[in-house]
Amino acid sequence: MALLHRNVFKGDFLSIMGYKFIWTIYDTMLDLDDCFLYIMRDWDPKLYYKPVGFIVGCRDSKTLFKRMLKINAGHIIKDTALALIRKPKLVLDCIKILRYESQSKIKPELLSICINPEYRNKKWGRKLVRKLERWFRKHKVKSYKVVVNQSNTDAQRFYHKLGFEYIKTFKLNDKEMELWKKCL
Ligand SMILES: CC(C)(COP(=O)(O)OP(=O)(O)OC[C@H]1O[C@@H](n2cnc3c(N)ncnc32)[C@H](O)[C@@H]1OP(=O)(O)O)[C@@H](O)C(=O)NCCC(=O)NCCS
Repeated sequence: MALLHRNVFKGDFLSIMGYKFIWTIYDTMLDLDDCFLYIMRDWDPKLYYKPVGFIVGCRDSKTLFKRMLKINAGHIIKDTALALIRKPKLVLDCIKILRYESQSKIKPELLSICINPEYRNKKWGRKLVRKLERWFRKHKVKSYKVVVNQSNTDAQRFYHKLGFEYIKTFKLNDKEMELWKKCL
């Protein structure tokens, strides 16, 4: 999952922080009851299995990082420090991410969705969103949001097809980002 994330989201903050950091973040989320992680995989005779894709969602993204620190501060701080030693320029980005204020009152969020390029356009993305929505509904979530890079027009078309509504554009770490939401 961490490898797929790093290969697909090449310029994003987590990928720049490195494979180990991504691994720690997702591994920590697995221990939080209000996070949903689902990985789809396909049988492969050589590799045993191949990742088809994954989706990550959370019922309260506003307090997520604080809660992750509470349960896994040691690893998160260690991996952040190691990433910053390798790339000191990231200090500013880290501060901006920590000070980032949510752009919406909606707390539930689709944090990440990624389909292995060789499995795209085969409805796997739609299936993963359906799984997250089933989990959201089970927990009485009425609407949720997703933040998309403005340059990621493929993802915007995908969200539009799935019934999301564009809300606004804002800046995050000098990148133009779009906020979208969907009512369930
Ligand atoms: C965006 C992404 C998750 C879509 O997954 P996918 O499995 O290829 O999408 P699906 O096959 O389930 O498509 C679902 C619908 O969206 C549409 N769609 C998907 N990608 C599209 C594109 N690039 N342009 C136009 N429509 C698109 C499909 O036509 C389909 O519509 P339909 O069911 O009415 O025919 C996938 O392309 C991906 O992993 N991209 C890279 C990671 C990323 O950008 N994630 C989002 C970050 S916010």
